[in-house]
Amino acid sequence: MEKLHVKVPAVEAGGYDILIGGGILTDSVIAEFVADRRVMLVSDENVERAGILDGIKVPSGCEKFIISPAGELSKNISTVTAVIEKMEAAAMGRDSVIVGIGGGTVGDMAGFAAAIYKRGIAVLHIPTTTVSQADSSIGGKTGVDSTMSKNAYGCFWQPRGVIIDVRTLKTLDERQYRSGLVESLKHALIRDAEYFEFLETNVANLLIRDEPTLIRLAAYNCRIKAAVVEQDPTEKNLRRILNYGHTIGHAVETLCDYTLYHGECVAIGIVAASMIEQRIGIGTRERTNRIVDVLLALSQPVRIPAQCSIDGIIDIIRRDKKSVGAVPRLALIEQIGKACCKDSQWAHPVSTDIVQEVIAELREVGLE
Ligand code: GLY
Repeated sequence: MEKLHVKVPAVEAGGYDILIGGGILTDSVIAEFVADRRVMLVSDENVERAGILDGIKVPSGCEKFIISPAGELSKNISTVTAVIEKMEAAAMGRDSVIVGIGGGTVGDMAGFAAAIYKRGIAVLHIPTTTVSQADSSIGGKTGVDSTMSKNAYGCFWQPRGVIIDVRTLKTLDERQYRSGLVESLKHALIRDAEYFEFLETNVANLLIRDEPTLIRLAAYNCRIKAAVVEQDPTEKNLRRILNYGHTIGHAVETLCDYTLYHGECVAIGIVAASMIEQRIGIGTRERTNRIVDVLLALSQPVRIPAQCSIDGIIDIIRRDKKSVGAVPRLALIEQIGKACCKDSQWAHPVSTDIVQEVIAELREVGLE
């Protein structure tokens, strides 16, 4: 078992620990984090159906909330209200802890409920998907969607700890498992060339979900994400690099009505970013090809679906949180493992013409 300490200004003074291993999801490991606090366990029907909760004894006095249906449809303020009112009905105090077990939507809701219950209580994240283990469980982003947009309600609320048991990834279906690995590729591209080479040479081990490989993958991800979040916990500047591939990716995700998975859209967004880098003189075709090779080996899409119009994408990215004066700002890399920083900024204005050209090329020809 590997233990990392994250020094993010956190609920607990001095930061929190992330435990990484295979088969570590035991009562005694969870007890290390929750001690004698009362627990509200928040999970969803997919995690329950996969049997991940079976091995976890819920001590007496603890409550359980299973989100149904699982996924984005339930990621709204009503679900959070229901969690909070269940805690209130059970007379749970400020010394309680919410334990969120599941993917990104469970973590976002568990974290948000913890952040607002009685002005804030502890939360322990136990991520069970490739996306949440690589990305969303670390760094304290929490929130739920409004009827109009994703994460309209939300805040930063750092957890008390994170337990990453890579064995839980064996319960995922192939598409969910593979698409979530794109967040790992993103980390490698923005921060660590050696990690990128690790991914290039270990695709086969990743595809068979080899446990030692997954433990190394998790350790790379956590170190990279923690280092970024420690420096910029509330995304004032540097943390924007974690949005690499997400600006165009999110637009595709919205325009496809979520028929493509988040990671699949980020894959498309990463290719688009790489083509933009070529056009503005900080990237090469050879670099784009190396990235595309990894994405194709993970069976990820590298073409923008026809249903996403150029105007539709441009309209959404103009309204992206990083845009200034409706000019899109994108996280970019200047080489594999090195995000681009110019004038002390980590997100860069890109002319709409260049973005349009790249989207048109990726819609018409793609790079497969
Ligand atoms: N998922 C990007 C971030 O946590 O900032």
